[in-house]
Amino acid sequence: GVDTLLRVTPSMLKQHNKRDDAWSAFNGKIYNITHYLSYHPGGEKELMRVAGRDGSKLFALTHAWVNLDYMLDGCLVGFLVPEA
Ligand code: HEM
Repeated sequence: GVDTLLRVTPSMLKQHNKRDDAWSAFNGKIYNITHYLSYHPGGEKELMRVAGRDGSKLFALTHAWVNLDYMLDGCLVGFLVPEA
């Protein structure tokens, strides 16, 4: 629920860069993409490029028309915030 969303810094995000523990930031929101990886139409390898980091730019370059917020609503972890 919204009461459990986290404030995630870039260095926290960086910890989640593994195939079995993958988070990514898109337009200020942090998503746990782990379970979506095997469903991504563009393949796991492409999506893993943004694991542990901000994927906004690559997402916008490949398919800005895809409604990520709707698709990954259940995978929202929190919000990207500056380093403390
Ligand atoms: C295709 C979702 C992140 C690369 C697609 C498609 C969807 C999708 C729905 C099919 C689009 C269509 O056919 O019009 C997502 C979601 C992402 C994500 C929800 C974030 C969690 C990325 C990233 C990259 C990427 C970061 C690049 C590093 C691609 C490519 C295709 C694709 C290359 C085209 C595959 C093809 O048609 O052969 N993605 N994507 N995606 N995605 Fe993603």
